[in-house]
Amino acid sequence: MRRLAGYLLLLLPLLAACSKEADSYVIGVSQCSVDAWREMANSEIQQEASFYNNITVNIRSVRDDSEQQIKDIEQFIDEKVDLLVISPNESTSLTPVVEKAYRSGIPVILYDRKIDSDQYTAFIGGDNRQIGYIAGTYAMSTLRNSGRICLIRGTKGSTADTERHEGFMAALEENKDFTGAVVEEAYANFNRQAAGRTMRLILNKMDAPFDLVFAFNDEMAAGVYDAYAAENIANKPFILGIDALLAPGGNGTISYIQNGMIDASLIYPTGGKDVIDLARRILMGMDYSKENVLNTELVNSSNLRIYQMQMDQLLDRQRRVEELNSRIRTNSSKYERQQVMTIVSFSLVAILAILSIALAVSFRTRNKLVDKLNEQNARIKKQIDSLEAQKKQLLDLSEQLEETTQAKLVFFTNISHEFKTPLSLISGPIDDLIANKQMPASAQVPLDILKRNSSKLERLITELLDFRTYENSKMVVNYSMGDMDKFLQEIIKMFADVIRRRNLTFSYEPDDAGYEIPFDPIKLEKVFTNLLSNAFNHVDREGTIRIRLFSTFNGPNRTINLSVFNSGSYIPPENMEKIFQRFYTLDVQQKGTGIGLALVTSIVDALGGTIKVDSSEDVGTTFTVLLPVQEGLRTDARVDKSYVPEFARLKLATMGEEEVDEGILDEMASTDEKKRVLVIEDNMDMRYYIRNILSSDYRVIMAKDGVTGLSKAHRFMPDIILCDIMMPGLDGYEVCSALRGNPTTKNIPIILLTACSLEEQKAHGYESGADAFMQKPFNVTTLKVRMRKLLEKSESITAEIQGDWLIGKDAGTLSSESATMLNKFREYVESHILDDISLDDLAGALGYSKSKLYRELKEVTEYTPIDLVNLVRLHKAVDLMTTEHQNITEAAFNSGFSSPSYFSRTFLKYYHMRPKDYLKGR
Ligand code: FRU
Repeated sequence: MRRLAGYLLLLLPLLAACSKEADSYVIGVSQCSVDAWREMANSEIQQEASFYNNITVNIRSVRDDSEQQIKDIEQFIDEKVDLLVISPNESTSLTPVVEKAYRSGIPVILYDRKIDSDQYTAFIGGDNRQIGYIAGTYAMSTLRNSGRICLIRGTKGSTADTERHEGFMAALEENKDFTGAVVEEAYANFNRQAAGRTMRLILNKMDAPFDLVFAFNDEMAAGVYDAYAAENIANKPFILGIDALLAPGGNGTISYIQNGMIDASLIYPTGGKDVIDLARRILMGMDYSKENVLNTELVNSSNLRIYQMQMDQLLDRQRRVEELNSRIRTNSSKYERQQVMTIVSFSLVAILAILSIALAVSFRTRNKLVDKLNEQNARIKKQIDSLEAQKKQLLDLSEQLEETTQAKLVFFTNISHEFKTPLSLISGPIDDLIANKQMPASAQVPLDILKRNSSKLERLITELLDFRTYENSKMVVNYSMGDMDKFLQEIIKMFADVIRRRNLTFSYEPDDAGYEIPFDPIKLEKVFTNLLSNAFNHVDREGTIRIRLFSTFNGPNRTINLSVFNSGSYIPPENMEKIFQRFYTLDVQQKGTGIGLALVTSIVDALGGTIKVDSSEDVGTTFTVLLPVQEGLRTDARVDKSYVPEFARLKLATMGEEEVDEGILDEMASTDEKKRVLVIEDNMDMRYYIRNILSSDYRVIMAKDGVTGLSKAHRFMPDIILCDIMMPGLDGYEVCSALRGNPTTKNIPIILLTACSLEEQKAHGYESGADAFMQKPFNVTTLKVRMRKLLEKSESITAEIQGDWLIGKDAGTLSSESATMLNKFREYVESHILDDISLDDLAGALGYSKSKLYRELKEVTEYTPIDLVNLVRLHKAVDLMTTEHQNITEAAFNSGFSSPSYFSRTFLKYYHMRPKDYLKGR
């Protein structure tokens, strides 16, 4: 489009050329009089001007009134006409205004009469002096050089009058033969009536008759005739006039000669056509003459006919010329129209051509764009199709997944329901057995374990089913009126024993807003119990648990705030969101199933409330539940006074931790003769269960977590270790790696206990140095066989190792310097075997500083110098026992041990068996 506008712009000059007209002009014409001569002159002017489209003629006429004529000319000046044609009534009075017009830059043509100045552009008209001269000459010849002459002059002060008079008088003076004279003269303002009046006055007072009366125009000559007729003077003089006006149709003053009123006249040409010719030349900057004289001719009865004929012919020719002109005008306007049409057509054709080109170009561009767009569309469509396909695939997948998940959950829910009946069939008889007084005391502990764990299963199933109910949006809220404060206190009371035993600082702080409100007791119990047990699970040793119940108000809306704080736990901000997700547990300690908080969130949600958590590393963690009070709710239902917080009871039952002094048991085990097994397991029930099943064959040492496990491994040097994988603090893998990394414990067989059968767990376990895995729940016999086999293998390895004093190190693989250093070391110890050997002694003997000796030995053997001294002594003792058959006590003292028991312990530590067993095994 922009390009099209450009093409059109190119056309503008062409169109402008078509529409451009020649400069147009306004010509002002100021006539001094109104009569037939002026009429004819004006008509000629108009007619001639009409040939030119660009010329407009504006004529203003006065009736021989100089003052009025000055005003007319002033007006033309103001109107800024392009040219002025002035026929001044009088010369002197009109001179200033003519000069003014001229000086203002308007070209001025003086017409017919003149002014007293040469400040005009051009003059056109008859030569009045010449006309006067011819008239004089003609009068004298008519009078045959004598006679009385009367002059009837025109407008006084006009050059037409003055010059005609001058010319006439000059002719008379020049002719010496003329004896006649001008005997009378008077002014009559070029007017017939005035001349008639004047002539009558003259006739009335004249002494003798006039032979010739020369009136300065034909109208006044007719007035002279009128006077003679009126005075009835038969002896009429020769009457001579000026103008000989031949108007179309035989009109004009020439008719006065024809009908004998006057005798002769001099043609005073109107020359309207010539005025316009001259004006055009001036306006268009062409050459022109300043003085343009129009010719005169004498007309009398003798040449009147010829003159008339000539004039007729002339007029006829003029008519024809006019006709021709008119045809030419018609044709030229036709031509002009055609020319305009041609230009317009040409322009239209050009525009059309340009438009066509522009259209073609834009069509091509458009086509190209359309092609491009089509290509892009096709590409986008392809992408959309493929995205759609992907989306569909994803939807299908997610549908499948959803279906599978739903199916799993439904299965899970069904199974959970299925669990309930057998569980109640288990817990019922257990209760009976516990109540049975005849049960032996030894059944007490296993029955307690049974009771506690069946309760735990019941609770878990309840939580799971609750959660499913929420997930399916089927949770129904049942409001009852009751005292929420008292209700919470009842639940807290149930935990009193735990609080006391754990020596916790516990407080419950309700405000006094009054809590007789509608609430759903079962749901509130679950929420509160979960938060409470969560606090018990995470509170630090002898820490603080603080519960607050308070109300906040927003206008008429009341919100219950129930917050549970416990010291000693911290939830970093990045975990805040996750803790409310199902199956997410707060830490690796795996306390709880991960359903608890998600269930709380679900219930709180169903109650229209919210839950939030604040945690600070130094202080502890607060969970706050905000529940809106259903103030408007009216219900007849009341929270039953005998309401048993069943969920809380179940929760509590599964929380019980017997604070058994495991240290005593461990010590007891250590003095026993049986092989020792260290059980590292955080679940107390599981720990005691294993203890129960192994205690007939082994001395069982128990550790409740990894750190305790490691310390007990070093202290008691167990023959075998059973270690759980998922534990608080150090997990099973870490315990395994630590044991393997220490030379004194590196050879103890380790069985990892795992709750799942994942292969990567096993790989990780083996990597950490585990010897075997047992998957929970394990078969007791299998566990025992496994343990026995591992012990046998370990013993054979220990026996092999005894061949070399440097346990776990093949002396042959050492560098010669290291071997030399160790040999020196061993020789020194052997040669001082009965002495107390200090690090200083060793360093001095080997020529090292103490620290260097320590470093070197540790690097080469992984043992400390004391370990190595012990190993040399042990090796010596073994040698004494086996080759010299010394008893344990002898061998102990002879190899430098301070006592047989210390010898035994050291033997056990490094060889993982007692000397007694060693001797037995040989
Ligand atoms: C017309 C007229 C003529 C005469 C001329 C002189 O107004 O009176 O008859 O010849 O003016 O200027």
